[in-house]
Amino acid sequence: MYFERLLTDGGSGLNKPAAVIVEAVQGEGGINAARAEWLRGLADLCKKHEILLIVDDIQMGCGRTGQFFSFEEAGIEPDMVTLSKSISGYGHPLALTLIKPELDIWEPGEHNGTFRGFAPAFATATKAIELFWSDDELEKSTIAKGAYVEGRFNQIAARFPEHELVVKGRGLARGLQMPSGEIAGKIAARAFEEGLLLETSGPSDEVVKLLPALTIPDELLTRGLDIIEDAINEALSA
Ligand SMILES: Cc1ncc(COP(=O)(O)O)c(C=O)c1O
Repeated sequence: MYFERLLTDGGSGLNKPAAVIVEAVQGEGGINAARAEWLRGLADLCKKHEILLIVDDIQMGCGRTGQFFSFEEAGIEPDMVTLSKSISGYGHPLALTLIKPELDIWEPGEHNGTFRGFAPAFATATKAIELFWSDDELEKSTIAKGAYVEGRFNQIAARFPEHELVVKGRGLARGLQMPSGEIAGKIAARAFEEGLLLETSGPSDEVVKLLPALTIPDELLTRGLDIIEDAINEALSA
């Protein structure tokens, strides 16, 4: 791994970092899913060099990729994990930083701030965890819905071999890489006209990005994909 060379080569110019921060699936970066093996290699390297491993699970946690945490599949144990977005289950503002107990040096009440501890968000977050994570129903349905999206994206990609579309992602974090940001933007604009909000991500905004609610009913997911498919057909056949 390139990072290992930087760490072990005395002339690399890189001082030993205190921590590495990583997303198991890059959201804004273009729905790039790290391989489980790559994540395990990174975790081992961090351990070997006494570098803390932080997983930013703000966008890909809370079940987005199937299991609650995006890194569970890889079987790694990060030292810290950040969570936010849907963690309150109800749109209330809430963010959490999980820290291994042996690294938690804060005294009670020391890490405070004006907006810390918004009580209604704690109540809704607790309820959401009880409701969605006391069994594996949500996890299973997310994986099934994700497989359906992947299948539809594969079909679309197969229809346009000359454009070399790349199907990306895991669970219900899916992306379809277009030849350019301009084309992806056109597709998003066309979908918007049909009532569908579609984001783009990636270095040139070239990835059409799908992050539906995990609880989305099957019919609505199909309808959304139909809109995306029509918009892609229009943009690529033009
Ligand atoms: C991976 C990731 N980390 C951090 C953030 C920022 O989160 P917050 O607004 O809770 O600080 C975002 C927002 O999109 C994100 O996607």
